[in-house]
Amino acid sequence: MSDRLFIFDTTLRDGEQVPGCQLNTIEKIQVAKSLEALGVDIIEAGFPVSSPGDFKSVIEISKAVTWPTICALTRAVERDIDVAAEALKYAKHKRIHTGIGTSDSHIKYKFNSNREEIIERAIAAVKYAKRYVEDVEFYAEDAGRTDNEYLARVVEAVIKAGATVINIPDTTGYCLPNEYGNKIKYLMENVKGIHNAILSTHCHNDLGMATANTIAGVMNGARQVEVTINGIGERAGNTALEEVAMILKSHHEIKIDTNINTQKIYPVSRLVSSLMNMPIQPNKAIVGRNAFAHSSGIHQDGVLKNVQTYEIIDPKDVGIDDNSIVLTARSGRAALKNRFLTLGVELSQEKLDKIYEDFLKLADRKKDIHDDDILVLAGAERTTNQRIKLDYLQVTSGVGVQSVASLALKISGEKFEACASGNGPVDAAIKALKKIIDRHMSLKEFTIQAISKGSDDVGKVHMQVEYDNQIYYGFGANTDIIAASVEAYIDCINKFKS
Ligand code: KIV
Ligand code: ZN
Repeated sequence: MSDRLFIFDTTLRDGEQVPGCQLNTIEKIQVAKSLEALGVDIIEAGFPVSSPGDFKSVIEISKAVTWPTICALTRAVERDIDVAAEALKYAKHKRIHTGIGTSDSHIKYKFNSNREEIIERAIAAVKYAKRYVEDVEFYAEDAGRTDNEYLARVVEAVIKAGATVINIPDTTGYCLPNEYGNKIKYLMENVKGIHNAILSTHCHNDLGMATANTIAGVMNGARQVEVTINGIGERAGNTALEEVAMILKSHHEIKIDTNINTQKIYPVSRLVSSLMNMPIQPNKAIVGRNAFAHSSGIHQDGVLKNVQTYEIIDPKDVGIDDNSIVLTARSGRAALKNRFLTLGVELSQEKLDKIYEDFLKLADRKKDIHDDDILVLAGAERTTNQRIKLDYLQVTSGVGVQSVASLALKISGEKFEACASGNGPVDAAIKALKKIIDRHMSLKEFTIQAISKGSDDVGKVHMQVEYDNQIYYGFGANTDIIAASVEAYIDCINKFKS
Protein backbone atom coordinates (compact mmCIF):
# COMPACT_ATOMS: atom_id res chain seq x y z
CA MET A 1 0.00 0.00 0.00
CA SER A 2 1.54 3.34 -1.10
CA ASP A 3 1.40 6.63 0.75
CA ARG A 4 0.32 9.80 -0.99
CA LEU A 5 2.75 12.73 -1.27
CA PHE A 6 1.32 16.21 -1.88
CA ILE A 7 3.16 18.31 -4.46
CA PHE A 8 3.25 22.00 -3.56
CA ASP A 9 4.57 24.02 -6.48
CA THR A 10 6.15 27.38 -5.70
CA THR A 11 7.41 28.26 -9.20
CA LEU A 12 5.18 31.34 -9.17
CA ARG A 13 6.35 32.52 -5.75
CA ASP A 14 9.83 31.33 -4.67
CA GLY A 15 10.75 30.56 -8.30
CA GLU A 16 9.57 33.88 -9.61
CA GLN A 17 11.78 35.78 -7.16
CA VAL A 18 14.72 35.24 -9.53
CA PRO A 19 15.87 38.64 -10.84
CA GLY A 20 14.89 39.08 -14.47
CA CYS A 21 12.40 36.19 -14.50
CA GLN A 22 9.27 38.07 -13.52
CA LEU A 23 6.11 37.11 -15.38
CA ASN A 24 3.07 39.22 -16.10
CA THR A 25 -0.35 38.06 -14.92
CA ILE A 26 -1.30 36.45 -18.23
CA GLU A 27 1.91 34.45 -18.28
CA LYS A 28 1.38 33.40 -14.66
CA ILE A 29 -2.09 32.13 -15.52
CA GLN A 30 -0.59 30.15 -18.40
CA VAL A 31 1.93 28.55 -16.03
CA ALA A 32 -0.74 27.90 -13.36
CA LYS A 33 -2.98 26.13 -15.86
CA SER A 34 -0.14 23.97 -17.05
CA LEU A 35 0.70 23.11 -13.41
CA GLU A 36 -2.92 22.11 -12.94
CA ALA A 37 -2.72 19.84 -16.00
CA LEU A 38 0.54 18.41 -14.64
CA GLY A 39 -1.34 17.37 -11.50
CA VAL A 40 0.19 19.49 -8.74
CA ASP A 41 -1.87 19.59 -5.54
CA ILE A 42 -1.06 23.10 -4.34
CA ILE A 43 0.02 26.17 -6.32
CA GLU A 44 1.71 28.92 -4.34
CA ALA A 45 0.53 31.81 -6.48
CA GLY A 46 2.34 34.71 -4.84
CA PHE A 47 2.95 36.97 -1.87
CA PRO A 48 -0.02 39.33 -2.22
CA VAL A 49 1.07 42.08 0.16
CA SER A 50 4.43 42.42 -1.60
CA SER A 51 3.11 44.23 -4.69
CA PRO A 52 -0.13 45.08 -6.53
CA GLY A 53 1.07 42.76 -9.32
CA ASP A 54 1.33 39.78 -6.96
CA PHE A 55 -2.05 40.61 -5.44
CA LYS A 56 -3.69 40.71 -8.88
CA SER A 57 -1.98 37.50 -9.99
CA VAL A 58 -3.26 35.57 -6.97
CA ILE A 59 -6.80 36.79 -7.75
CA GLU A 60 -6.59 35.87 -11.43
CA ILE A 61 -4.94 32.49 -10.84
CA SER A 62 -7.63 31.73 -8.25
CA LYS A 63 -10.27 32.37 -10.90
CA ALA A 64 -8.48 30.43 -13.64
CA VAL A 65 -7.62 27.23 -11.79
CA THR A 66 -10.10 24.65 -10.48
CA TRP A 67 -8.53 21.62 -8.82
CA PRO A 68 -5.34 22.62 -7.03
CA THR A 69 -5.40 24.50 -3.75
CA ILE A 70 -4.25 28.10 -4.26
CA CYS A 71 -1.84 29.27 -1.61
CA ALA A 72 -0.76 32.81 -0.72
CA LEU A 73 2.34 33.65 1.30
CA THR A 74 2.42 36.07 4.23
CA ARG A 75 4.70 37.08 7.06
CA ALA A 76 3.37 36.64 10.60
CA VAL A 77 1.76 40.05 10.24
CA GLU A 78 -1.98 40.71 10.41
CA ARG A 79 -2.04 43.07 7.43
CA ASP A 80 -0.26 40.48 5.24
CA ILE A 81 -2.86 37.92 6.25
CA ASP A 82 -5.77 40.30 5.57
CA VAL A 83 -4.41 41.02 2.07
CA ALA A 84 -3.74 37.33 1.34
CA ALA A 85 -7.30 36.41 2.39
CA GLU A 86 -8.69 39.11 0.10
CA ALA A 87 -6.54 37.91 -2.82
CA LEU A 88 -7.74 34.33 -2.29
CA LYS A 89 -11.42 35.19 -2.31
CA TYR A 90 -12.13 33.50 -5.67
CA ALA A 91 -10.10 30.34 -4.99
CA LYS A 92 -12.14 27.14 -4.88
CA HIS A 93 -9.64 25.64 -2.42
CA LYS A 94 -7.53 28.12 -0.51
CA ARG A 95 -4.59 28.13 1.86
CA ILE A 96 -2.74 30.86 3.72
CA HIS A 97 0.98 30.22 4.22
CA THR A 98 2.23 32.24 7.15
CA GLY A 99 5.37 32.00 9.25
CA ILE A 100 8.36 33.49 10.94
CA GLY A 101 12.12 32.87 11.30
CA THR A 102 12.97 30.44 14.10
CA SER A 103 16.76 30.09 13.97
CA ASP A 104 18.75 31.95 16.62
CA SER A 105 20.24 34.27 14.02
CA HIS A 106 16.79 35.17 12.60
CA ILE A 107 15.39 35.69 16.11
CA LYS A 108 18.29 37.89 17.17
CA TYR A 109 19.22 39.83 14.02
CA LYS A 110 16.02 39.89 12.02
CA PHE A 111 13.50 40.33 14.82
CA ASN A 112 15.62 41.52 17.77
CA SER A 113 13.43 39.19 19.79
CA ASN A 114 13.63 36.01 21.86
CA ARG A 115 12.46 32.43 21.49
CA GLU A 116 9.33 32.74 23.66
CA GLU A 117 8.13 35.86 21.88
CA ILE A 118 8.61 34.19 18.48
CA ILE A 119 6.39 31.27 19.59
CA GLU A 120 3.73 33.76 20.67
CA ARG A 121 3.90 35.56 17.33
CA ALA A 122 3.70 32.26 15.45
CA ILE A 123 0.62 31.16 17.39
CA ALA A 124 -1.05 34.55 16.89
CA ALA A 125 -0.42 34.48 13.12
CA VAL A 126 -1.88 30.99 12.72
CA LYS A 127 -4.94 31.87 14.80
CA TYR A 128 -5.43 35.06 12.83
CA ALA A 129 -5.19 33.21 9.48
CA LYS A 130 -7.67 30.62 10.77
CA ARG A 131 -10.29 33.36 10.96
CA TYR A 132 -10.21 33.43 7.18
CA VAL A 133 -9.41 29.87 6.02
CA GLU A 134 -9.44 26.35 7.38
CA ASP A 135 -6.22 25.37 5.63
CA VAL A 136 -3.30 27.22 7.23
CA GLU A 137 0.31 26.31 6.55
CA PHE A 138 3.01 27.54 8.90
CA TYR A 139 6.67 27.96 7.86
CA ALA A 140 9.51 28.06 10.35
CA GLU A 141 11.95 30.06 8.25
CA ASP A 142 15.55 28.84 8.50
CA ALA A 143 14.33 25.65 10.18
CA GLY A 144 17.41 24.00 8.67
CA ARG A 145 19.57 25.90 11.16
CA THR A 146 17.06 25.89 14.02
CA ASP A 147 17.86 23.50 16.85
CA ASN A 148 15.51 20.55 16.83
CA GLU A 149 14.28 20.87 20.39
CA TYR A 150 13.14 24.46 19.96
CA LEU A 151 11.76 23.72 16.48
CA ALA A 152 9.64 20.92 17.99
CA ARG A 153 8.20 23.39 20.52
CA VAL A 154 7.30 25.84 17.74
CA VAL A 155 5.72 23.11 15.62
CA GLU A 156 3.70 21.74 18.55
CA ALA A 157 2.41 25.21 19.40
CA VAL A 158 1.28 26.08 15.88
CA ILE A 159 -0.42 22.71 15.37
CA LYS A 160 -2.31 23.36 18.60
CA ALA A 161 -3.26 26.78 17.20
CA GLY A 162 -4.76 25.09 14.13
CA ALA A 163 -2.01 24.82 11.47
CA THR A 164 -2.79 22.02 9.03
CA VAL A 165 0.61 21.86 7.29
CA ILE A 166 4.03 22.63 8.79
CA ASN A 167 6.77 23.71 6.42
CA ILE A 168 10.36 23.02 7.51
CA PRO A 169 12.45 25.18 5.15
CA ASP A 170 16.16 24.72 4.74
CA THR A 171 16.18 28.38 3.72
CA THR A 172 19.92 28.65 3.16
CA GLY A 173 20.42 25.21 1.60
CA TYR A 174 22.89 24.29 4.34
CA CYS A 175 21.67 20.93 5.67
CA LEU A 176 23.15 17.57 4.79
CA PRO A 177 20.61 14.95 3.68
CA ASN A 178 20.95 12.85 6.87
CA GLU A 179 20.71 16.00 9.01
CA TYR A 180 17.55 17.17 7.25
CA GLY A 181 16.04 13.66 7.30
CA ASN A 182 16.78 13.39 11.03
CA LYS A 183 15.13 16.75 11.63
CA ILE A 184 11.88 15.50 10.09
CA LYS A 185 12.20 12.21 12.01
CA TYR A 186 12.78 14.12 15.26
CA LEU A 187 9.63 16.18 14.70
CA MET A 188 7.60 13.08 13.79
CA GLU A 189 8.72 11.42 17.03
CA ASN A 190 8.74 14.32 19.47
CA VAL A 191 5.88 16.67 18.61
CA LYS A 192 2.62 16.01 20.41
CA GLY A 193 -0.26 16.16 17.88
CA ILE A 194 2.05 15.76 14.85
CA HIS A 195 -0.53 13.48 13.19
CA ASN A 196 -2.99 16.36 13.09
CA ALA A 197 -0.80 18.08 10.49
CA ILE A 198 1.34 17.27 7.47
CA LEU A 199 5.07 18.01 7.53
CA SER A 200 6.40 19.67 4.40
CA THR A 201 9.91 19.93 2.98
CA HIS A 202 11.16 23.18 1.42
CA CYS A 203 14.79 22.85 0.38
CA HIS A 204 17.16 25.25 -1.34
CA ASN A 205 20.01 24.13 -3.54
CA ASP A 206 22.94 26.27 -2.38
CA LEU A 207 25.13 23.21 -1.86
CA GLY A 208 23.46 21.13 -4.58
CA MET A 209 21.55 19.01 -2.06
CA ALA A 210 17.97 20.26 -2.41
CA THR A 211 16.58 17.12 -4.04
CA ALA A 212 18.57 14.76 -1.79
CA ASN A 213 17.35 16.64 1.29
CA THR A 214 13.76 16.59 0.07
CA ILE A 215 13.85 12.84 -0.50
CA ALA A 216 15.47 12.35 2.93
CA GLY A 217 12.59 14.36 4.40
CA VAL A 218 10.01 12.24 2.60
CA MET A 219 11.66 8.99 3.70
CA ASN A 220 11.41 10.19 7.28
CA GLY A 221 7.76 11.18 7.26
CA ALA A 222 7.20 14.43 5.31
CA ARG A 223 4.11 14.11 3.11
CA GLN A 224 4.30 17.39 1.23
CA VAL A 225 7.22 18.68 -0.85
CA GLU A 226 7.70 22.29 -1.96
CA VAL A 227 9.28 22.38 -5.38
CA THR A 228 9.65 24.43 -8.54
CA ILE A 229 9.75 23.57 -12.23
CA ASN A 230 13.36 23.21 -13.42
CA GLY A 231 14.43 23.89 -9.82
CA ILE A 232 14.29 27.62 -10.44
CA GLY A 233 14.50 29.96 -7.49
CA GLU A 234 16.67 32.56 -5.86
CA ARG A 235 20.42 31.91 -5.77
CA ALA A 236 20.99 28.23 -6.65
CA GLY A 237 17.25 27.56 -6.71
CA ASN A 238 14.76 25.21 -5.06
CA THR A 239 14.15 21.48 -5.28
CA ALA A 240 13.14 20.55 -8.84
CA LEU A 241 9.64 19.10 -9.15
CA GLU A 242 10.62 16.87 -12.05
CA GLU A 243 13.47 15.29 -10.07
CA VAL A 244 11.29 14.38 -7.09
CA ALA A 245 8.49 13.06 -9.30
CA MET A 246 10.85 10.85 -11.32
CA ILE A 247 12.76 9.58 -8.27
CA LEU A 248 9.50 8.39 -6.75
CA LYS A 249 8.35 6.89 -10.06
CA SER A 250 11.66 5.07 -10.57
CA HIS A 251 12.21 3.84 -7.01
CA HIS A 252 9.16 1.68 -6.33
CA GLU A 253 10.65 0.54 -3.04
CA ILE A 254 9.94 4.00 -1.56
CA LYS A 255 6.22 3.21 -1.99
CA ILE A 256 5.06 6.78 -2.27
CA ASP A 257 2.77 8.10 -5.00
CA THR A 258 2.12 11.55 -6.36
CA ASN A 259 -0.64 12.86 -8.58
CA ILE A 260 1.87 14.07 -11.19
CA ASN A 261 1.22 13.11 -14.82
CA THR A 262 4.90 12.74 -15.63
CA GLN A 263 4.30 12.88 -19.39
CA LYS A 264 3.51 16.57 -18.99
CA ILE A 265 6.84 17.34 -17.28
CA TYR A 266 8.82 18.24 -20.38
CA PRO A 267 6.23 20.60 -21.93
CA VAL A 268 5.78 22.44 -18.63
CA SER A 269 9.53 22.66 -18.18
CA ARG A 270 9.93 24.22 -21.64
CA LEU A 271 7.06 26.60 -21.08
CA VAL A 272 8.49 27.91 -17.80
CA SER A 273 11.99 28.21 -19.25
CA SER A 274 10.70 30.10 -22.25
CA LEU A 275 8.34 32.49 -20.44
CA MET A 276 10.95 33.28 -17.80
CA ASN A 277 13.79 33.58 -20.33
CA MET A 278 15.65 31.16 -18.09
CA PRO A 279 17.67 28.62 -20.08
CA ILE A 280 17.91 25.07 -18.75
CA GLN A 281 21.46 23.81 -18.31
CA PRO A 282 22.01 21.09 -20.94
CA ASN A 283 22.98 18.45 -18.34
CA LYS A 284 20.04 19.23 -16.02
CA ALA A 285 18.54 15.98 -14.72
CA ILE A 286 15.29 14.91 -16.42
CA VAL A 287 14.70 18.01 -18.58
CA GLY A 288 18.15 19.10 -19.83
CA ARG A 289 18.80 18.84 -23.55
CA ASN A 290 21.43 16.17 -22.95
CA ALA A 291 19.56 14.25 -20.23
CA PHE A 292 18.80 11.41 -22.64
CA ALA A 293 21.47 12.00 -25.30
CA HIS A 294 24.03 9.23 -25.46
CA SER A 295 27.10 10.42 -27.28
CA SER A 296 29.91 8.07 -26.32
CA GLY A 297 30.38 5.08 -28.61
CA ILE A 298 30.14 2.56 -25.77
CA HIS A 299 26.86 4.03 -24.52
CA GLN A 300 25.36 4.27 -28.00
CA ASP A 301 26.22 0.65 -28.65
CA GLY A 302 24.67 -0.42 -25.34
CA VAL A 303 21.52 1.61 -25.84
CA LEU A 304 21.05 0.22 -29.34
CA LYS A 305 21.32 -3.35 -28.01
CA ASN A 306 19.00 -2.70 -25.08
CA VAL A 307 17.90 0.74 -23.96
CA GLN A 308 17.94 -0.31 -20.31
CA THR A 309 21.73 -0.66 -20.36
CA TYR A 310 22.19 3.07 -19.92
CA GLU A 311 18.72 4.57 -19.54
CA ILE A 312 16.90 4.42 -16.22
CA ILE A 313 13.98 6.50 -17.46
CA ASP A 314 12.08 6.19 -20.71
CA PRO A 315 12.16 9.74 -22.19
CA LYS A 316 8.51 9.25 -23.19
CA ASP A 317 7.62 9.01 -19.49
CA VAL A 318 8.54 12.67 -19.10
CA GLY A 319 6.91 13.74 -22.35
CA ILE A 320 9.94 13.72 -24.63
CA ASP A 321 8.89 12.21 -27.90
CA ASP A 322 11.82 11.01 -30.00
CA ASN A 323 9.60 10.53 -32.99
CA SER A 324 8.23 14.03 -32.98
CA ILE A 325 7.71 15.45 -36.45
CA VAL A 326 10.60 17.62 -37.57
CA LEU A 327 9.41 21.11 -38.41
CA THR A 328 10.72 22.57 -41.66
CA ALA A 329 9.81 25.35 -44.08
CA ARG A 330 7.29 22.91 -45.60
CA SER A 331 5.40 22.34 -42.34
CA GLY A 332 1.91 23.72 -42.23
CA ARG A 333 0.08 25.71 -39.57
CA ALA A 334 -1.50 22.51 -38.19
CA ALA A 335 1.92 20.96 -37.50
CA LEU A 336 3.09 24.15 -35.83
CA LYS A 337 -0.08 24.41 -33.75
CA ASN A 338 0.26 20.79 -32.74
CA ARG A 339 3.87 21.30 -31.67
CA PHE A 340 2.86 24.29 -29.56
CA LEU A 341 0.11 22.20 -27.94
CA THR A 342 2.66 19.49 -27.14
CA LEU A 343 4.77 22.18 -25.52
CA GLY A 344 1.79 23.34 -23.46
CA VAL A 345 1.20 26.59 -25.38
CA GLU A 346 -2.31 27.34 -26.60
CA LEU A 347 -2.55 30.05 -29.27
CA SER A 348 -5.45 31.94 -30.78
CA GLN A 349 -5.78 31.63 -34.59
CA GLU A 350 -4.64 35.22 -34.96
CA LYS A 351 -1.49 34.67 -32.90
CA LEU A 352 -0.77 31.40 -34.66
CA ASP A 353 -0.99 33.15 -38.05
CA LYS A 354 1.47 35.82 -36.91
CA ILE A 355 3.90 33.31 -35.43
CA TYR A 356 3.58 31.10 -38.51
CA GLU A 357 4.83 33.97 -40.71
CA ASP A 358 7.89 34.38 -38.46
CA PHE A 359 8.33 30.61 -38.38
CA LEU A 360 8.52 30.46 -42.19
CA LYS A 361 11.10 33.25 -42.25
CA LEU A 362 13.17 31.41 -39.65
CA ALA A 363 12.80 28.06 -41.45
CA ASP A 364 14.21 29.69 -44.59
CA ARG A 365 17.34 30.66 -42.68
CA LYS A 366 17.68 27.63 -40.43
CA LYS A 367 17.69 23.94 -41.38
CA ASP A 368 16.45 22.31 -38.18
CA ILE A 369 13.76 24.03 -36.19
CA HIS A 370 13.88 22.96 -32.56
CA ASP A 371 11.29 23.33 -29.84
CA ASP A 372 13.37 26.10 -28.31
CA ASP A 373 13.25 28.02 -31.59
CA ILE A 374 9.50 28.08 -31.81
CA LEU A 375 9.14 28.93 -28.14
CA VAL A 376 11.42 31.89 -28.81
CA LEU A 377 9.10 32.89 -31.65
CA ALA A 378 6.14 32.77 -29.27
CA GLY A 379 8.17 34.81 -26.78
CA ALA A 380 9.24 37.33 -29.41
CA GLU A 381 5.62 37.72 -30.39
CA ARG A 382 4.94 38.99 -26.86
CA THR A 383 7.15 41.98 -27.47
CA THR A 384 5.41 43.36 -30.57
CA ASN A 385 3.47 45.91 -28.50
CA GLN A 386 6.61 47.62 -27.24
CA ARG A 387 6.89 51.41 -27.57
CA ILE A 388 10.42 51.34 -28.98
CA LYS A 389 11.17 48.88 -31.78
CA LEU A 390 14.13 48.15 -33.99
CA ASP A 391 13.25 49.13 -37.54
CA TYR A 392 16.44 48.18 -39.34
CA LEU A 393 20.07 47.48 -38.56
CA GLN A 394 23.07 47.36 -40.84
CA VAL A 395 26.54 46.52 -39.62
CA THR A 396 29.95 46.42 -41.30
CA SER A 397 32.66 44.62 -39.37
CA GLY A 398 35.59 42.35 -39.88
CA VAL A 399 39.30 41.94 -39.29
CA GLY A 400 41.41 45.05 -39.97
CA VAL A 401 38.39 47.34 -40.42
CA GLN A 402 36.51 49.44 -37.94
CA SER A 403 32.98 48.27 -37.11
CA VAL A 404 30.26 50.64 -38.21
CA ALA A 405 26.54 50.30 -37.52
CA SER A 406 23.58 52.24 -38.78
CA LEU A 407 20.15 51.61 -37.42
CA ALA A 408 16.68 53.03 -37.17
CA LEU A 409 14.28 52.84 -34.24
CA LYS A 410 10.55 53.37 -34.33
CA ILE A 411 9.49 55.20 -31.19
CA SER A 412 5.72 55.30 -30.85
CA GLY A 413 5.57 54.92 -34.63
CA GLU A 414 8.06 57.72 -35.45
CA LYS A 415 11.33 56.76 -37.17
CA PHE A 416 14.77 57.88 -35.86
CA GLU A 417 18.06 56.98 -37.54
CA ALA A 418 21.69 57.04 -36.34
CA CYS A 419 25.08 55.73 -37.27
CA ALA A 420 28.20 55.04 -35.13
CA SER A 421 31.51 53.25 -35.18
CA GLY A 422 32.74 51.12 -32.32
CA ASN A 423 35.01 48.50 -30.90
CA GLY A 424 33.26 45.58 -32.58
CA PRO A 425 29.80 45.34 -34.16
CA VAL A 426 27.77 45.16 -30.90
CA ASP A 427 29.58 48.21 -29.51
CA ALA A 428 28.96 50.11 -32.76
CA ALA A 429 25.26 49.17 -32.81
CA ILE A 430 24.73 50.12 -29.16
CA LYS A 431 26.54 53.43 -29.67
CA ALA A 432 24.21 54.19 -32.59
CA LEU A 433 21.22 53.27 -30.43
CA LYS A 434 22.46 55.55 -27.65
CA LYS A 435 22.65 58.46 -30.09
CA ILE A 436 18.88 58.15 -30.46
CA ILE A 437 18.06 57.24 -26.84
CA ASP A 438 20.22 59.81 -25.10
CA ARG A 439 20.14 58.67 -21.47
CA HIS A 440 22.69 57.93 -18.78
CA MET A 441 22.58 54.14 -19.02
CA SER A 442 25.29 51.51 -18.86
CA LEU A 443 25.53 47.86 -19.76
CA LYS A 444 26.14 45.71 -16.67
CA GLU A 445 25.78 42.18 -17.95
CA PHE A 446 25.63 40.66 -21.40
CA THR A 447 25.34 36.97 -22.29
CA ILE A 448 24.86 35.38 -25.69
CA GLN A 449 23.64 31.85 -25.92
CA ALA A 450 22.97 29.50 -28.81
CA ILE A 451 19.76 27.54 -28.39
CA SER A 452 20.72 24.35 -30.16
CA LYS A 453 23.49 23.47 -32.57
CA GLY A 454 24.59 24.76 -35.94
CA SER A 455 25.94 28.01 -37.32
CA ASP A 456 22.39 28.97 -38.36
CA ASP A 457 21.19 28.82 -34.78
CA VAL A 458 19.02 31.41 -33.03
CA GLY A 459 21.09 33.38 -30.51
CA LYS A 460 19.47 34.41 -27.24
CA VAL A 461 20.82 37.50 -25.55
CA HIS A 462 20.26 38.38 -21.89
CA MET A 463 21.26 41.84 -20.74
CA GLN A 464 21.27 43.99 -17.66
CA VAL A 465 21.33 47.76 -18.12
CA GLU A 466 21.69 50.22 -15.27
CA TYR A 467 19.65 53.39 -15.47
CA ASP A 468 18.65 55.82 -12.73
CA ASN A 469 20.20 53.54 -10.04
CA GLN A 470 18.07 50.59 -11.13
CA ILE A 471 18.96 47.45 -13.01
CA TYR A 472 16.71 46.46 -15.93
CA TYR A 473 16.74 43.03 -17.57
CA GLY A 474 16.28 42.58 -21.30
CA PHE A 475 16.05 39.70 -23.72
CA GLY A 476 16.46 39.34 -27.48
CA ALA A 477 16.46 36.38 -29.86
CA ASN A 478 17.53 36.37 -33.47
CA THR A 479 19.66 34.33 -35.88
CA ASP A 480 21.72 37.53 -36.12
CA ILE A 481 23.37 37.96 -32.72
CA ILE A 482 24.05 41.68 -33.28
CA ALA A 483 20.32 42.20 -33.87
CA ALA A 484 19.52 40.03 -30.83
CA SER A 485 21.85 42.22 -28.75
CA VAL A 486 20.20 45.43 -29.92
CA GLU A 487 16.75 43.92 -29.30
CA ALA A 488 17.79 42.98 -25.76
CA TYR A 489 19.03 46.51 -25.12
CA ILE A 490 15.76 47.94 -26.46
CA ASP A 491 13.84 45.49 -24.25
CA CYS A 492 15.65 46.98 -21.22
CA ILE A 493 14.87 50.55 -22.32
CA ASN A 494 11.20 49.70 -22.84
CA LYS A 495 11.08 48.76 -19.14
CA PHE A 496 12.51 52.05 -17.84
CA LYS A 497 10.11 53.59 -15.39
CA SER A 498 10.85 57.20 -16.45
O1 KIV B 1 13.03 29.47 1.89
C1 KIV B 1 12.17 29.84 2.71
O2 KIV B 1 12.38 29.85 3.92
C2 KIV B 1 10.91 30.32 2.17
C3 KIV B 1 9.81 30.58 3.15
C4 KIV B 1 9.30 32.00 3.00
C5 KIV B 1 8.72 29.58 3.01
O3 KIV B 1 10.75 30.43 0.98
ZN1 ZN C 1 12.33 29.30 -0.13
